Amino acid sequence: MDVEQLLQRMTLRQKLAQMTQLHPYLFDESKVDELTGPNSDLKLSEDDLYLCGSLLNTFWAETRLNLQQKHMERDPNAIPMLFMQDVIHGHRTIYPIPLGMAATFNPQLLQDCAEMAAKEAAASGIDVCFSPMADLCRDARWGRIAESFGEDPYLNEQMTAATVKGYQAENRTAACVKHYAAYGAAEAGRDYNTVDMSLRTLHEYYLKGYEAAVKAGAKMVMSSFNTLNGIPAAGNRYLMNDVLRNKNSFNGCVVTDYNAVREMIAHGFAENEKECAYHAISCNNDMEMMSSTYLRFGEELVKEGRLSVAQIDECVRRILTLKQELGLFESPNRHTDAKLADELFYCKEHLDICQAAAEESCVLLKNNGILPLQKGGKTIAVVGPFAKSKALIGTWAMAADESQTHTLLDGLQKTSPADRFTFAEGCTMQLGEEDVSGVPLALSAAEQADLIIVALGEAQWDSGEGASRTKLRLSPAQKTLLTQLKKTGKPIVGVIFAGRPLVLTDVIDDFDALLYAWHPGTMGGDAIARLLYGEVCPSGVCPVSFARDEGQFPLYYNHYTTGRPCHGDNDPNAYSSRYKDCSNTPLFPFGYGLSYTQFAVEGFTLSSETMQKGGSITATARVKNVGTVAGKAALQWYVRDRFGSCVRPVLELKGFEKIALAPGEEKSVSFTLTEETLAFYHDDLSLFAEAGDFDLYCGLSSVDTISLPFRLV
Ligand code: NOJ
Repeated sequence: MDVEQLLQRMTLRQKLAQMTQLHPYLFDESKVDELTGPNSDLKLSEDDLYLCGSLLNTFWAETRLNLQQKHMERDPNAIPMLFMQDVIHGHRTIYPIPLGMAATFNPQLLQDCAEMAAKEAAASGIDVCFSPMADLCRDARWGRIAESFGEDPYLNEQMTAATVKGYQAENRTAACVKHYAAYGAAEAGRDYNTVDMSLRTLHEYYLKGYEAAVKAGAKMVMSSFNTLNGIPAAGNRYLMNDVLRNKNSFNGCVVTDYNAVREMIAHGFAENEKECAYHAISCNNDMEMMSSTYLRFGEELVKEGRLSVAQIDECVRRILTLKQELGLFESPNRHTDAKLADELFYCKEHLDICQAAAEESCVLLKNNGILPLQKGGKTIAVVGPFAKSKALIGTWAMAADESQTHTLLDGLQKTSPADRFTFAEGCTMQLGEEDVSGVPLALSAAEQADLIIVALGEAQWDSGEGASRTKLRLSPAQKTLLTQLKKTGKPIVGVIFAGRPLVLTDVIDDFDALLYAWHPGTMGGDAIARLLYGEVCPSGVCPVSFARDEGQFPLYYNHYTTGRPCHGDNDPNAYSSRYKDCSNTPLFPFGYGLSYTQFAVEGFTLSSETMQKGGSITATARVKNVGTVAGKAALQWYVRDRFGSCVRPVLELKGFEKIALAPGEEKSVSFTLTEETLAFYHDDLSLFAEAGDFDLYCGLSSVDTISLPFRLV
């Protein structure tokens, strides 16, 4: 297909229809009531519907085949539609939420998971996955932290790039990195809220994840709902044109978020839908999602000379090129294959990878020695609203079949059939329900048991989009259950399921051991059981700081020192930068996670104490498993730049490696630093490293490190 010739044949209206993305419900009168969001006033004719260039959220092969056929019969240019879907952490077979995947510190594992998801998605007729979400997040009140890779720009870069590579392997699907930009910095953690930050902070921290995805070849970008420094992202010329298109040379397609074009009116930025279309097209948003301003006002804007045909052509060219790259012109339904999809969903290979991912994502936060459990001969009370629940999937898993979830109770019974498990739900899971009528039954199960495994946390519906919270503690009902269980005096192993780092300050002492399982997906129950019984060694580490109190947000390890640094909780200086009623430190720091074995980091050396401009130095260290079981260590490399013309963070993650070691085994690890590693954005947005003194830290968390000094000259 010659895209230029095709463009020449198309009318302006046909071009604007290519730039319109709709929801398939519009094609099915009976489903109108199922919809959410603003959708009643698109004012499109039936002809327009069948001309539109793409659809979002079609889950199944049959839907695609049917809609594509109807479209192809009517489109005079026979341009196939593109189908896009929120494939976030799996299509039907589900692996842990992105925040859990970040805890693996294992980008290759995430890439494998994403490739698995793309196979299921492609067979289901999905061309584009609306993922990865590269929104850096320092505030766990924001519900969508679940979809993020946490608070660190480097980890975010590695994980977004891995996701893109997985989706785009063998051209199965295209990745759409979102939400451009800085959506994760919503003020006070409230979804869709204002984002205001210096351009230096934007470039130094927030843009890096999207840029890494673009560098990894992401074919699409989604612009975000929020304002950035006073201008809605989709209408923000600096962001969309100067940075994304010019600085980052992104030539792929941009789609807006759902109805975000029309929301420019609610923002108070555009007076009417025509102005919305003008701003969005001027900012090179090639497609508008679930609004129809392009189709309804595009021709008028061109007639008035406010938009040119060349501008429209630019957008359509990118859309047609994407369709061509994906092979749609040769085969309008490309990989769509309902039979294959059915074979792939929940097949052994896919379940295995989801299980491996869930195992690596769990973070062991506390262990007084009770874990791993010995198999056999015990009565174990398995209590709590998550103990037998299949609702462990997490946010944004629209095509998942929850009935396929392996529950914790299933997993425990399977892993240790020689133990006796008694189940009691105890209380309700969801915030606001707060039913504690099951507590007495849970207590009687606990009293007759040798040990309690209590499964608590945050319901999957209480995290994700639109699920911002101000109180991040366990729900009152769950807290009551735990307090009562504690009174039995029986040992308590806690498993917490959540879409965010909850505030655990007032419950942590109640647990003898605590495993943080995020929302682990289809195989969560089996994975957790294997971890509790030591069939695998926990190796997840915190991808975010766990706050002691909600009042600490925004909270992140890579902060600046301030002019009056606080030197620990007992610092006698009342006028240091601190709280009167809470430590500055998190309850669990970034990069922290326990194991059943111990690792020693030894022999840390640098190839030179001096790095020449343009040169490099290599650090080496040996990691040794000095414990008695096999395990994986997440070795982390951090840099501190002691002085800069812009102040520098106390630590910055610059590298990490997940290392598997048998007992007694030792591996030598090396890490090469270049001038680029030390570069940072300056006040005028120039990016370079400044000569001076640095420290390189090597360790097993952001607070468990050894360091060596070096100089850039
Ligand atoms: C709105 C969400 O913000 C975005 O992440 C998602 O991809 C779209 N809706 C499509 O469902």
